[in-house]
Amino acid sequence: MSSESSRAPSAPTMRAIQFSDYGAPGDVLHETQIPVPEPRPDDILVEVKAASINPYDWHFYRGDPYMIRATSGIRRLRHPRIAGADFAGVVATVGTNVTTFSIGDRVFGERGEGGALAEFVAVPADNAATMPRTASFEEAAAVPMVALTASSALRDVGKLAPGQSVLVNGASGGVGVFAVQLAKAWGASRVVGVCSGRNKELVLSLGADAVVDYTSENYWEGEEKFDLMVDIQNSQPLRRSLTAVKEDGTYVIVGGGGGKLMGPGGPVMRAMAQGLFKRQRVAAVFAQSRGEDLARVASLIDDGKVTVPIEKVYDWAEATAAMERLESNRVSGKLVIRI
Ligand SMILES: NC(=O)c1ccc[n+]([C@@H]2O[C@H](COP(=O)([O-])OP(=O)(O)OC[C@H]3O[C@@H](n4cnc5c(N)ncnc54)[C@H](OP(=O)(O)O)[C@@H]3O)[C@@H](O)[C@H]2O)c1
Repeated sequence: MSSESSRAPSAPTMRAIQFSDYGAPGDVLHETQIPVPEPRPDDILVEVKAASINPYDWHFYRGDPYMIRATSGIRRLRHPRIAGADFAGVVATVGTNVTTFSIGDRVFGERGEGGALAEFVAVPADNAATMPRTASFEEAAAVPMVALTASSALRDVGKLAPGQSVLVNGASGGVGVFAVQLAKAWGASRVVGVCSGRNKELVLSLGADAVVDYTSENYWEGEEKFDLMVDIQNSQPLRRSLTAVKEDGTYVIVGGGGGKLMGPGGPVMRAMAQGLFKRQRVAAVFAQSRGEDLARVASLIDDGKVTVPIEKVYDWAEATAAMERLESNRVSGKLVIRI
């Protein structure tokens, strides 16, 4: 990561990790000094203590899939973007319309436009929630995007009802570790996680009733049929995955796979189109950043029903290494960067 300075003469400034070009993290991410964002009337300004990273982040700094570039810039970004979406920290300022938070509150949330890998981030107050009392900043930062995605896949889209069975493909990744735990917390009678053998103990420790080791077994060839399949890795064609779903069940695609043009959007659209001709309900998740959903997850964390598995906490100077690890698609749980 290179270092550069563009200090405004009078405005307070902060350190941030930005990119203006598309490419490998070591080539494009750089530390810079920029003005602290001004919160709008509905925003809070948060002093960030920790941020976590998601595949979402590398899609943006790599400009991959190309579809992303249609809005951010074809050859290079039209405007520099601060990396990171998930944050946890302390409220430094509240916008004039904000009544839900006060200066000094410990909050966590997601800023979809990026901005978490910085000393301060301004976000709409509605996108943040009070941190779980029992969580550290590092743990809280690891939660937002993946927990909101898992929550949406199970509840909003999957319509999970107590007593139903759930198959989670990609159970050891960021979204998966929350999907397994939230499914159990919301009353699933049986949760089976698809993961590799090295992550078996992790997924069982989160409450899964069983695991399918994808390196030696095929989940689509088992006898068991599920009410709901949450497909996070999308590692198999839809027709195979649907053999694991009951005829009146639901298949929810979250991400994974896809080519350079459309990325995960391609398989999602294909699954939706093919789903029109299937018995099972086929649906996709486009997770929204909602503070009220985060607050629900925070209560489950405080009640001890959901834990936050973190593979590693990196220091600020190691952000590039953290991104390189993220891109391996081998992370167990989450990667966090201390700000
Ligand atoms: N739709 C939305 O709104 C939304 C929101 C968030 C994320 N997503 C997408 O969801 C996907 C997953 O995100 P994530 O944060 O969970 O990623 P992640 O944490 O980087 O996923 C890595 C995990 O996936 C496991 N894995 C890799 N290949 C697998 C396979 N063939 N079968 C089962 N598990 C496998 C790895 O375990 P092993 O090393 O043991 O294989 C690792 O634990 C990404 O494509 C992301 O873009 C979509």
